[in-house]
Amino acid sequence: MNTINKSAVQQIATIHSNKRVGAYHQILINVGEMVKSCRPGNFVAISVGGDSSRMILRRAFAISRVSDSSQYGGTMELIVAPHGSGSKWLCVQPEGSELDIVAPLGTSFGIPTEPINALLVGGGYGSAPLFGLADVLKNRGCKVDMLLGASIGTKIYAPMEGKRSVNSLKIYTEDGSMGEKGRVTESLLEIISNRSIDVIYSCGPMGMLRAITELVANTEVIHQCAVEESMACGIGICMTCVLPVRNEDGSTSMLRSCIDGPVMDGSHVQWDLVGRIPEAHQ
Ligand SMILES: Cc1cc2nc3c(=O)[nH]c(=O)nc-3n(C[C@H](O)[C@H](O)[C@H](O)COP(=O)(O)OP(=O)(O)OC[C@H]3O[C@@H](n4cnc5c(N)ncnc54)[C@H](O)[C@@H]3O)c2cc1C
Ligand code: FES
Repeated sequence: MNTINKSAVQQIATIHSNKRVGAYHQILINVGEMVKSCRPGNFVAISVGGDSSRMILRRAFAISRVSDSSQYGGTMELIVAPHGSGSKWLCVQPEGSELDIVAPLGTSFGIPTEPINALLVGGGYGSAPLFGLADVLKNRGCKVDMLLGASIGTKIYAPMEGKRSVNSLKIYTEDGSMGEKGRVTESLLEIISNRSIDVIYSCGPMGMLRAITELVANTEVIHQCAVEESMACGIGICMTCVLPVRNEDGSTSMLRSCIDGPVMDGSHVQWDLVGRIPEAHQ
């Protein structure tokens, strides 16, 4: 089992820009030197509500990408869905306001040393960590294809952005309002075989991650998924975020997805036990 990400620090970060993009907000924050320790798959925990109405728990958001080449110093990009009180508060924060953040948290995606064929699969705002990952994989000479899925077209984050980041992009929506009608899993096996995919990197709803794991179970494809289980502390203390994971001896451990994840090997997760307490632990 892991401990909190050793690079994690708490600092005040200024919002550089906050733009609405479809159903989401693209929020760029100045984080300075912190960008050097952020890896694709890591997340940030943000204190929300402001000084007069601060909410007790920080909210977790995937780090979409970081950049240290801009004239503004190190910047971190977040893609936020205005969902409940905390994320709605974050989405209305104007440029120049200050955020109390802790980052980088959690584990990161494994980056291959050899050029490989990677398929990135994102559901809704789950595409957030995949854009930064695509940049890193392409710099390593990998061929990077991407599938984005959502219930409706406005929940596909920045399709043009997706196109720029990867070799090919295919979009699926359940109502058919953008791309093909259906789910990202629709032609997954066909795509894997046609494009000789070695690794799938995914992030999105648990049902999607489970479906991908089941589809690739009888293939050689490795499936690294970033789980977004509800988190309270985000640093390994409260056990809110535990997920059942199969050990080599067949037993089950409840791992904390905030420090043993969010990136996990999909084939290790006991998807049918998620949300239940395994018998051995009762
Ligand atoms: C690793 C990770 C990455 C994420 N990345 C993104 C992203 O890129 N973009 C995005 O829009 N969203 C992302 N999310 C989801 C985002 O964290 C939630 O939508 C956010 O917490 C909503 O906060 P809220 O105040 O708006 O919602 P509310 O529903 O009002 O509040 C959620 C709060 O309840 C707490 N909570 C939830 N379940 C429990 C529980 N069982 N016990 C105790 N407390 C609980 C949470 O910690 C949080 O503080 C991510 C989540 C995780 C875990
Ligand atoms: S969120 Fe508290 S242990 Fe993971």
